[in-house]
Amino acid sequence: MPATGPAPLLGRPIIITGLGAYVPPKVVTNDDLTATLNTSDEWITQRTGIRERRVAEAGLCSSDLGIIAGRAALDDAGLSPGNVDLVITATISPDRLMPATASRVAYECGCEAAGAFDVSAGCSGFVYALAMAASTVAAGLHDHVLVVGAEVISRLLDWQDRSTAVLFGDGAGAAVVSPLVSPTAGSGGPVVEIRPGLAGILGFDLGGDGAGAEFLMIPAGGSKLPASCATVEARQHYMTMNGQEVYKFATRIVARSAGRVLERCGLGVADIDLFVPHQANLRIIEGAAKKLGIPDDKIYTNVQRYGNTSCASIPLCLSEARTEGRLNDGDLVLLMGFGAGLTWGACLMEWGRARDLPNTAGVIRT
Ligand code: ACO
Repeated sequence: MPATGPAPLLGRPIIITGLGAYVPPKVVTNDDLTATLNTSDEWITQRTGIRERRVAEAGLCSSDLGIIAGRAALDDAGLSPGNVDLVITATISPDRLMPATASRVAYECGCEAAGAFDVSAGCSGFVYALAMAASTVAAGLHDHVLVVGAEVISRLLDWQDRSTAVLFGDGAGAAVVSPLVSPTAGSGGPVVEIRPGLAGILGFDLGGDGAGAEFLMIPAGGSKLPASCATVEARQHYMTMNGQEVYKFATRIVARSAGRVLERCGLGVADIDLFVPHQANLRIIEGAAKKLGIPDDKIYTNVQRYGNTSCASIPLCLSEARTEGRLNDGDLVLLMGFGAGLTWGACLMEWGRARDLPNTAGVIRT
């Protein structure tokens, strides 16, 4: 199976300095779905763990959710939007095929003149985008990157198809990636307080297997099968999925990819304080964690409340985990994305919290 080799990150040490999240207020429960679909709360809960999901109001698109999460992350980092050099949006439900959703996110977040592009890597998109952000900051090409995972997947679902409609939800999450020593400290940039030995983002393992590209896709609307009356009539503009193949892939790849990034960074499963997997399905998460040997109390899940929010799921988890006191300075955190492509992406980091300390330059070691 082809894969880029996992590698500890070289170059400047980097860290996540801010987090933000947003979910639309409208809750759709499993029972609500039974009004229009031949399904049941029992089936959905037993097979997926999902009890409810959020659905965006008509007229709201992925960038609308991403802008709210992105602004919150910038506030959290204490970073003035003008200091953001690059905005990367990970999404499987872009506003349009062209231009990139990131362009509007950057503009509306006030990141004037920042570069902007989208990452399309299925539900692994956030980890892929984080890897791109981390690499460019580590290399010194950019100083501050805003990474946004934003989804209004409800518009891509065939609400007559019970095998997919029950699984997904809408939401957004965002993170600011900065060097440990802020180059703009004192001029609006964040000052990062780190504990001795804290290392920030340590490494990634990204990979893919295009042999499974058709297991999860939207058949029509692109250059392969342009939209037409016939494709719309055949409902080919909606997501299709071979659930069992995706399930087998996910349970296989999570343990493998996580093992690779841990090994390369010289760490073991016992070192992990918090495992933050993509929230596709509770059975996949629990099965993969068991294979890896991660105990239940070190796994973060919120799929029960939000369903699968694709590229938003991992930053949403990070944000909530921190609010709940489950993400603390110095914790070793393993992120694990997997999804359409087929793709996977693991990231290992030591968590550190940004503090806005005006008039203080550089890194403070306590
Ligand atoms: N309610 C009731 N019955 C249902 C539903 C539903 N919502 N959906 C399917 N069924 C029925 C099927 O029709 C089938 O009935 P049959 O036996 O009479 O034919 C039966 O349930 C079993 O169907 P399976 O597909 O075999 O069910 P399975 O146990 O595999 O569970 C599921 C399905 C939950 C989708 C599982 O395969 C799964 O979790 N797959 C991974 C999905 C996933 O995570 N996708 C996202 C990946 S990330 C990304 O990039 C987007």
